[in-house]
Parts: sequence; structure tokens; C-alpha cells
Amino acid sequence: MKIGGLVVAVGLFVVVHAGIFAAHPKVADVGYQPEQPVPYSHKLHAGTMGLDCTYCHYTVTKAAFSAVPPTEVCMNCHKQVKVKSERLEPVRQSYETGKPVEWLKIHKLPDYVYFNHQAHVTAGVSCVSCHGRVDQMVEVRQVEPLNMGWCVSCHRDPASRLRPAHLVTKLDWVPDRDPAVIGREIIAAKNINPPTNCSGCHR
Ligand code: HEC
Ligand code: HEC
Ligand code: HEC
Ligand code: HEC
Ligand code: HEC
Repeated sequence: MKIGGLVVAVGLFVVVHAGIFAAHPKVADVGYQPEQPVPYSHKLHAGTMGLDCTYCHYTVTKAAFSAVPPTEVCMNCHKQVKVKSERLEPVRQSYETGKPVEWLKIHKLPDYVYFNHQAHVTAGVSCVSCHGRVDQMVEVRQVEPLNMGWCVSCHRDPASRLRPAHLVTKLDWVPDRDPAVIGREIIAAKNINPPTNCSGCHR
């Protein structure tokens, strides 16, 4: 009886917590790594082959949103490369039907938060500061919490996280002098002042 009760209690605990996670997906997001419809590998394409992030995410320097590439971008190569691969079947189907591949979104802020890629990337914040070494990931996973404390702590003191803007997609870049000194020069030159007031991020 006792054991039965325990099982029921544990079962309830799991159900209740599953509910909480479903309602507030942010809670469980570090490490979030859904299975994608195509086993696309950043490690192969961005790492080994050295494709620049902006080859595919070409809106990231120009817009708030960093679009996932349309099928045409994949077919630039896959019309010739691995044309019989089963793993690429959903990509070829998408190309024929015009229906986009249904990639699952990994990083997601609540709707009441304003975020803008262009503002960060042009200021000199690298993808690596927020997404980690994507060029070494076979499957992308979330590595930073993306919560308010995390955003604000960089906004209060961004110096050591800044680099010349043309290097933001070089995820393995190593500064040749004190990064805080480089950062302070960039802050002065570009008059960088990230918002720490509530309305900066909640508009
Ligand atoms: C050849 C095209 C291509 C290149 C190059 C590429 N990506 Fe991607 N990226 C994709 C595709 C397709 C997805 C969606 C599938 C997935 O998550 O793996 C994606 C997803 C992502 C995501 C997750 C988006 C989400 O749903 O939250 C991040 C972050 C990302 N890429 C960052 C990068 C970075 C950083 C680089 C450069 C080091 C890069 N990508 C280079 C095609 C590319
Ligand atoms: C610049 C050229 C290029 C682009 C653009 C490109 N790929 Fe590739 N991809 C390759 C090459 C080359 C390989 C094969 C490497 C090898 O020989 O194993 C490959 C391999 C793959 C494989 C593994 C296939 C298998 O059977 O092993 C998948 C899946 C894949 N790519 C998906 C994508 C998707 C999805 C996109 C678009 C987001 C994309 N690729 C864009 C060049 C490209
Ligand atoms: C300051 C942190 C930060 C930087 C720098 C950054 N990202 Fe993001 N990225 C985010 C956040 C936060 C989201 C989720 C946005 C949302 O849900 O509105 C995201 C989402 C994405 C997505 C999914 C589509 C979208 O816009 O929601 C892709 C793809 C992506 N980032 C790629 C990149 C690439 C490539 C770079 C570098 C050129 C980069 N990011 C730089 C924080 C960052
Ligand atoms: C690694 C450092 C860093 C992180 C992490 C970061 N930011 Fe920023 N943020 C900056 C910098 C640098 C700027 C540019 C300020 C400028 O140009 O004056 C900026 C600017 C902004 C702006 C003003 C952009 C505009 O268009 O007005 C907003 C809003 C913002 N960030 C929101 C966020 C949110 C939300 C998060 C967390 C999800 C976040 N940031 C995480 C460094 C960061
Ligand atoms: C740099 C960006 C940024 C600034 C500045 C900021 N927030 Fe947030 N805030 C966020 C993000 C991102 C989230 C959602 C993610 C999280 O924290 O879980 C959030 C979430 C919240 C939430 C919901 C929290 C919850 O637990 O559901 C409230 C309330 C909030 N912020 C109030 C404020 C107030 C009040 C201020 C000013 C004192 C402020 N924020 C300043 C980025 C910011």
C-alpha cells in the first residue's frame, strides 16, 4: 500500500510539473534540442566546410529576426551534392512543392520581450556570446538561459563581450589583447549604451 501511494504521489508530481513546463517553456530551455525534420549539421556545414553564418542566416545583420534559410539555399549545393541521400528527401520535397521544411524553433523569448539581432550584431556582440559554439554542434542546442538576469548583466557591463563587428561570425576568434580594453574602445567609438530600463526590453 505504502509503495502504491508513493508511486501515485510521484506520478502526480510528474504530471503537475509537466504542466508547468508546458505552460512556461522557458523553465527548461537550457539544453533544449528538439529533433529536426532533416539531420542538418552545423558542425559539418559551418565548422568543417567553413560556411559563414550569414550565408544562410542572411537577415541577422539587417533585421530583428535571424531567419532560418529557405530551401533554395540548401539546393544551391544539394542539386549537385548527395542528390540521392535519403536524409535530404524532405528538402527535395520542399523544393518541389514549395512548402518550407518545418524546422523547429529552439530559442524563443516570450512575446512581451523585445529583441533585435541587428542591434547586437552591428554593435559587435558575437553569435557565440548567446548561442555558444554552434559551429561545433551536430544539432543546435540552447546553451544560455536567455532570461532577464542574463540579458541585464551583459547590458550593465558589455565591454569584455564586444569585438570588431566584422568578426561576429568568427566563433573561434581570440582577442590579441585585453578584451575589456578592446571593448571600451568600441563603446567609445560607437557610443554604445545598452538599455537597462524596463521599457528598453518591454515596449
Ligand atoms: C548552410 C546553412 C547554415 C549555415 C551556414 C548556418 N546555419 Fe544556423 N541554421 C540552419 C538551419 C537549416 C537551421 C534550422 C535547423 C537547426 O536548428 O539545425 C539553423 C538553426 C540555427 C540556430 C537555432 C535557431 C532556433 O531555432 O532557435 C542557431 C542559433 C544558428 N542556426 C546559428 C548559426 C550560427 C552561429 C552559424 C555560423 C557559425 C550558423 N547558424 C550557420 C542553417 C545554417
Ligand atoms: C555550400 C554547399 C552546401 C550548402 C549550401 C548546404 N549543404 Fe548540406 N552538404 C554539403 C556537402 C558537401 C555535404 C556532404 C559532405 C559529405 O561528403 O559527406 C552535405 C551534407 C548534408 C547532409 C548529409 C547528407 C547525407 O546523406 O550524409 C544533410 C542532411 C545536409 N547536407 C543538409 C543541408 C541542408 C538542410 C542545407 C540548407 C539549410 C544544406 N545542407 C546546405 C554542402 C552543402
Ligand atoms: C545578444 C544575444 C544574441 C546574439 C549576439 C545573437 N543571437 Fe540569435 N537569438 C538570440 C535570442 C534571444 C533568440 C530568440 C529570439 C526570439 O525568440 O525572439 C535568437 C534566435 C536566433 C535564431 C532563430 C530565429 C530568430 O530570430 O528567432 C537564429 C537562426 C539565430 N538566433 C542566429 C544567430 C546568428 C547567426 C547570430 C550571429 C550572427 C546570432 N543569432 C546572434 C540571441 C542572440
Ligand atoms: C553579451 C552581451 C549582451 C547580451 C547577452 C544581451 N545584450 Fe542586448 N545589447 C547589447 C549591446 C552591446 C547592445 C547595443 C547597444 C547600443 O548599440 O547602444 C544591446 C542592445 C539591446 C537593445 C536595444 C536595441 C534597439 O534596437 O534599441 C535591446 C532591446 C536589447 N539589447 C535587448 C536584449 C535582450 C532582451 C537580451 C536577452 C534576451 C539581450 N539584449 C542580451 C549586449 C547584450
Ligand atoms: C535587457 C532586457 C531587459 C530589461 C532591461 C528588463 N527586462 Fe524584464 N524580462 C526580460 C526577459 C528576457 C524576460 C523573460 C525571460 C525570463 O526572465 O524568464 C523578462 C521578464 C520579465 C517579467 C516576467 C517575469 C516572470 O517571471 O515571468 C517581468 C514582470 C519583467 N521582466 C519586468 C521587468 C521590469 C520591471 C524591468 C525594469 C526594472 C525589466 N523587466 C527590465 C528582459 C529585460
